[in-house]
Amino acid sequence: MNQNSRDGFSSRFGVFAAVIGSAVGLGNIWRFPYMAGENGGAAFLIIYFAFVLIIGIPAMLSEFIIGRRGQSNSYGSFKKLAPKKPWYLVGLMGILAAFVILTFYSTITGWTLEYVVLAVKDVFSSTTAVQDPKQVFEHFHTQAARPLIWQLTTMFLAAVVIMFGVRKGIESSAKVLMPLLFVFLVILAVKALTLPGSAEGLKFLFKPDFSKINSDVLLAALGQSVFSLSVGMGALITYGSYIKKDVNMSRTAFSVSITDCIMAILAGMAIFPAVYSFGMYPDQGPGLVFVVLPAIFQQMTGGVYFALLFFVLVAIAGITSIISLLEVIVAYLVEEFKLKRVLATTVATTLACALGAFTTLSFGPLKHVQIFNKSIFDNSDFFASNILLPLGALFVVVFLGWFYDIRQTKDELSNQGTLKIRLFPVFMFIIRFIAPIAILMVFLKGLGVV
Ligand code: PFF
Repeated sequence: MNQNSRDGFSSRFGVFAAVIGSAVGLGNIWRFPYMAGENGGAAFLIIYFAFVLIIGIPAMLSEFIIGRRGQSNSYGSFKKLAPKKPWYLVGLMGILAAFVILTFYSTITGWTLEYVVLAVKDVFSSTTAVQDPKQVFEHFHTQAARPLIWQLTTMFLAAVVIMFGVRKGIESSAKVLMPLLFVFLVILAVKALTLPGSAEGLKFLFKPDFSKINSDVLLAALGQSVFSLSVGMGALITYGSYIKKDVNMSRTAFSVSITDCIMAILAGMAIFPAVYSFGMYPDQGPGLVFVVLPAIFQQMTGGVYFALLFFVLVAIAGITSIISLLEVIVAYLVEEFKLKRVLATTVATTLACALGAFTTLSFGPLKHVQIFNKSIFDNSDFFASNILLPLGALFVVVFLGWFYDIRQTKDELSNQGTLKIRLFPVFMFIIRFIAPIAILMVFLKGLGVV
């Protein structure tokens, strides 16, 4: 495929929206607020933010550089940049990681669709016979059929977007969905902040408690920042290959990362004030979104509408992240196996659904299946988040820092010398020394070695 016929993002805002679509996901709306609240509030926020700036942005930029220089999928880009070396294995690992994440990310995103329907059916209304949200959740997510149907629906929605292509599918949908997501989050945060007693919730999120900060929390913050920015899975290499040569990638990486943080904080501001206002506690793990929040919506005036808004929001966040994961695989199949886009999408989606079904069923009929003392879901999460993701991120920065021609990196980052890149030495220093060590620590921590 020559460069001119290659599909790609048409505008700067298009790139921004698409990458935000990937970055803002379940990690921001469910995981981040909960982690911040548990691990020192504002103290965690400061550390998280520092990691985003010091490690996250350079790592994101590294993937962009590899993708745009390589003008190909995550495997093909490494092959192009290092033709005779086995670095393409890192690209392949990214494709595997994307695949594994798809299998469980689509399970949870599927659940949110069930909750959209529950909201529409008025289950969270205070006027209908009140159902216990805990029972509703237990009953739903341990079944076989409904969670599977929602997983299929989730994947189908993402697949349709992918079939339309990069510009007409990924970019066009993100340009609409991302502003919508932002507006929804702001509405929910404003509502939460006007509830009586919301100040306690804000305190939980923002009161700095440095006594909670230890090495575990540091590494958790770093791991979360890398996951939240979608680094390490080939997604940003693939999206990077669709960025036009005149786009300032440093600026894109910076604005995306800051926006990702803002979205995560907004999610916290939407959730915790409401949780505290209704006398509940935010230490519920996965149950927070599917049990505690529904209980709150039931008691809130106009709760049905806010429930609808909230679950549509989480579903959008999840699906746009799934789109970026699916694109990693589809781009590979199209470019390396010359499959038509529609066929490639069908193959990737079918495979992800087939394997993902086991993950979804691991909450119900396959609950007893334990591997290494863990459910299928927990194994996939562990394998992708604790092994593949940090390894992928590590190899990306090591490759660019130590094994790729620095002049080429400079050329790509400065748009062939047309942009001033004053921070280039800082960038190189980070990807050579700081990022590899920090990510290696996260990896070892994830394995339980340190
Ligand atoms: N960044 C997403 C989140 O915060 O939920 C998760 C993710 C999506 C990770 C896509 C990696 C990826 F390629």
